[in-house]
Amino acid sequence: MDLVTRTANYVQEQFYGEGSGHDWWHIHRVYETSMQIMAHEDAKSIKEDIVALAALLHDIADWKFNGGDDEAGPRAAADWLESQNADARIIEDVCTIIRELSFKGAGVQTPMSSMEGKIVQDADRLDAIGAVGIARAFAYGGYKKRELFDPNVLPVLHQTAEHYKAQRSTTVNHFYEKLLLLRDRMNTETGKKLAEQRHLFMLSFLNRFFEESHETNSKHA
Ligand code: ADP
Ligand code: NI
Repeated sequence: MDLVTRTANYVQEQFYGEGSGHDWWHIHRVYETSMQIMAHEDAKSIKEDIVALAALLHDIADWKFNGGDDEAGPRAAADWLESQNADARIIEDVCTIIRELSFKGAGVQTPMSSMEGKIVQDADRLDAIGAVGIARAFAYGGYKKRELFDPNVLPVLHQTAEHYKAQRSTTVNHFYEKLLLLRDRMNTETGKKLAEQRHLFMLSFLNRFFEESHETNSKHA
């Protein structure tokens, strides 16, 4: 069995039963979308094994550790890859991507230093938007016991540290804080194209949501 297959099996085992939006099928989609983006970009210089391993391991620390430790992800990935006797070069490239991906300073855009990282970041962000992104947002909101929507809690268009800490935010607000901003943050041309369709789907979902809630969306736009 090659390293990518062994890693996929390992990750699938680790994520079994995860219910907060970080289940194995999130990893699977990010892997498949990364492969799709890679196939459309100039593939000559892209290292496929690095894209595959980074996609599979990008959330590996989330099941085990919680919060605050930016090194937990790279460390967990390195532990696994070392246990499989992976080349030091592979471990370093994969861990750099996971480190750059897991940096989530509020309002700070995360620059990815490699093409492989840009692809995995696009794939991860694509899984937060569109139909799947909508499902994940409401699943996460339920997990955090957030309300779906409250017309009196106005969405804030751009995320700020203060807003993140605010007591009350609803899942519909999360679209305005983050999900609707992701389209303009895609790195690759393929990512931009895929994001466009998913973005439009979220807008039409929100329009229907406000209509059915007897709200106009003018105050939310
Ligand atoms: P990942 O690292 O897989 O991109 P995150 O850990 O940031 O994702 O979030 C997991 C999922 O939960 C994403 O789909 C994201 O949009 C959603 N999510 C994160 N924060 C919130 C929130 N405050 N309200 C609703 N959904 C959220
Ligand atoms: Ni992810």
